[in-house]
Amino acid sequence: MIEVSAPSNIALIKYMGKQNSKSNLPTNASLSYTLEKLRTTVVLEEVSSSQDEWIPLSGEDFFKIELSEKGKEKFLSHLQRMKTNLQLSGFYRVASANNFPSDAGLASSASSFAALTLACYDMKRQKNPSINISMEKLAELSRQGSGSSCRSFFSPWSIWDQQGAREISLPIQNLHHFVLVYESRAKKVSSSEAHLRVLSSPFFAKDSSGLPRVERAEKRLEQLIHSFQERHWEKSFEICWDEFWDMHELFHTSEPSFSYLNEEVKIVLKRMKERWQKEKVGPLITLDAGPNIHCLFREEDTDLAKSWQQEFQPRGMA
Ligand code: PMV
Repeated sequence: MIEVSAPSNIALIKYMGKQNSKSNLPTNASLSYTLEKLRTTVVLEEVSSSQDEWIPLSGEDFFKIELSEKGKEKFLSHLQRMKTNLQLSGFYRVASANNFPSDAGLASSASSFAALTLACYDMKRQKNPSINISMEKLAELSRQGSGSSCRSFFSPWSIWDQQGAREISLPIQNLHHFVLVYESRAKKVSSSEAHLRVLSSPFFAKDSSGLPRVERAEKRLEQLIHSFQERHWEKSFEICWDEFWDMHELFHTSEPSFSYLNEEVKIVLKRMKERWQKEKVGPLITLDAGPNIHCLFREEDTDLAKSWQQEFQPRGMA
């Protein structure tokens, strides 16, 4: 029996739009911070059955994953992909759970697929200790199951571009992260569907200054790396802010259009921006394909993080 866990990650420069939807090749490069505390655990066990199966993993520290039939199929077909690639014989029961709620814009697919990929590799190594596959190669295999999962193999920063996913060394470390969960209901439009729909937005082809989405994202990536290197925090905040709005504007203008932002989230975002402008300090703020706001504070801003968390915590949450 193999047990492994893998972290989730939050993109500051977003992967949105695929060149090829089967192999999850992105239209643009992305950059993410690995969320070591938000993890999926996978337990992989060989069974004397004639097929693989998935079950939810139970335990005190876990939120059960409620996988739809489609979700189960996707997860088990990744198991099959790994078995084929690693030449891993036999049938398996895969049990998984998160230590955070799934399907709420918290990128549980990134940590789940990374954990499953690593579990298969560990199983193979148990059977054949001489096997040696690099993290970059494992990330590439994981990417075929879930695009953003390939960034979860590297920490604290991951870059994913045409050459694949790998670690990128940046001087900003030990960020304090929290996510404000405004709505934990299952998403109406899945990220796979979002990747397809954004291509229909006129702003994917070009924005008001004539720049295509791919160039906007790549330009911000370069600027963000530079501003981290220069430790220019406010500039970094502005780049991340523009980037998540760019992605959400693509959602709002695609055909058919859709949105993850409810009125409460819009109001909170406005108040956050006002506080940043007033105090000239604050967190990096970003949203994935969900109504939840991720805040990332510098190591030295612990008190500020507490105060932001208190001020913006959705009502009804401790
Ligand atoms: O890996 P997917 O298909 O769930 O796509 C994730 C897309 C975003 O979370 C919205 C952005 C990103 O880069 O993680």
